[in-house]
Amino acid sequence: MSGEHTRIAVFGAGYVGLVTGACFAELGHSVSVRDIIPERIERLRRGKVPIYEPGLDDLLARNAERLVYTTDVAEAIDGAHFVFVAVGTPPTYSGDADLSAVWTVIDELPELDRRLTVVMKSTVPVGTGAKVRHRLDARGLRHVGYVSNPEFTAEGTAVSDFMEPDRIVIGSFEDVDGDAVAALHSGIDAPIVRADVASAEMIKLAANAALMTRISFINEIANVCEATGADVVKVAEGVGHDRRIGKSFLRAGIGFGGSCFPKDSLALKQLAANSGYHFQVLNAVIEVNDLQKRRVIGKLVELLDTLRDKRVALLGLAFKPGTDDTREAPAFVLAGRLLAEGAEVVAWDPVASADGLTGVTQVPSVAEAVRDADAVVLVTEWPELAELDWRALAQTMRTAVLVDGRNMLDPEEMRAAGFRYDAIGRAAANGQG
Ligand code: UDX
Repeated sequence: MSGEHTRIAVFGAGYVGLVTGACFAELGHSVSVRDIIPERIERLRRGKVPIYEPGLDDLLARNAERLVYTTDVAEAIDGAHFVFVAVGTPPTYSGDADLSAVWTVIDELPELDRRLTVVMKSTVPVGTGAKVRHRLDARGLRHVGYVSNPEFTAEGTAVSDFMEPDRIVIGSFEDVDGDAVAALHSGIDAPIVRADVASAEMIKLAANAALMTRISFINEIANVCEATGADVVKVAEGVGHDRRIGKSFLRAGIGFGGSCFPKDSLALKQLAANSGYHFQVLNAVIEVNDLQKRRVIGKLVELLDTLRDKRVALLGLAFKPGTDDTREAPAFVLAGRLLAEGAEVVAWDPVASADGLTGVTQVPSVAEAVRDADAVVLVTEWPELAELDWRALAQTMRTAVLVDGRNMLDPEEMRAAGFRYDAIGRAAANGQG
């Protein structure tokens, strides 16, 4: 197979499925995107993209003639050479990944007499590929190939992460399937890591765990900086220049959230535990992150004495800028704690919604959120927050208290603007060193 103009079926029209479908269409392939939610498919047919992801609308529109959307399995698979599985794998109560949507896709595959390759994009526990292989074989679908091809796309930059990745990981039982998936990516300039299926599955989990470990590590360094009078921003700069360490993922803050890290950390922890191994570092990473999300509460109590009846403005609801995703967002944990302490909570976000946050008032502008507030917490580092006239905003507040949960603002400037300002791990920069 040349890998060009092949037909690809993508199961799951979420972030991963839509980005995968759009990017393969951009590479010249014909793509059918299948989802079980009829409204979602209807909207896509009308050119409405159900998620906020920069560049995705353009890509889907530009390649519209190579993309079809359907709820119908037979229509999606008709003539397809590949079935990409991009369905959700949320955690169950035990922390294991819930693979029921994956199994539904596998069981829905029709009896086929031609070669087809199932490509796993969803993040799954190590060993899933072997189980899928077994299930396909049991159904007499030995000629259906299986490849693990994990995604490393971050929300907000998913399209460029897909088109210009650091690497493409392809794990296969048989080389012919791996070769076919590698050929599909021709046009993308990146090293290809070929592996066995289990190792490909583990690469995804290990890469995420390494990134989370860096974040919890720098957050703990930040907490020690606070206790000892250092500035974590300076520390991260000095540490990051070491080429063995590198600069990325060393931004201290109020913890990681999103659709991947929290879920995948639990899944890896549980995967290890299920095989009798206690993954100590990962357990610490998770615990540090849980505590970090609550750290701002202590700071506010110190600055305001009590939170009861205090009006607190949260700037940012999304788990990070550039997305409307609020899954596992620190803002939600903060809001819940603030409400429990008796505070009134007002929130602003340029795209994300406070839906599901009972008791929180969402307002359309920063000015409205901040007016008459007793404290402001910068929760998500939306770029527009750096451009604000903070001096003018301070004057509209009941008490000008600002906690910068992302170390985005300049401590000196904020103090000059009239704020009692605190950040994460910046004792020295705050003049407390
Ligand atoms: C992540 C991985 O980057 C991606 O490879 C994987 O496929 C899915 O999970 P994503 O969740 O979209 O992507 O966001 P990312 O930009 O990695 O940020 C994750 C979280 O870590 C955010 O809450 C962010 O605020 C936080 N973070 C990131 C920090 O607190 N400090 C940092 O230095 C970097």
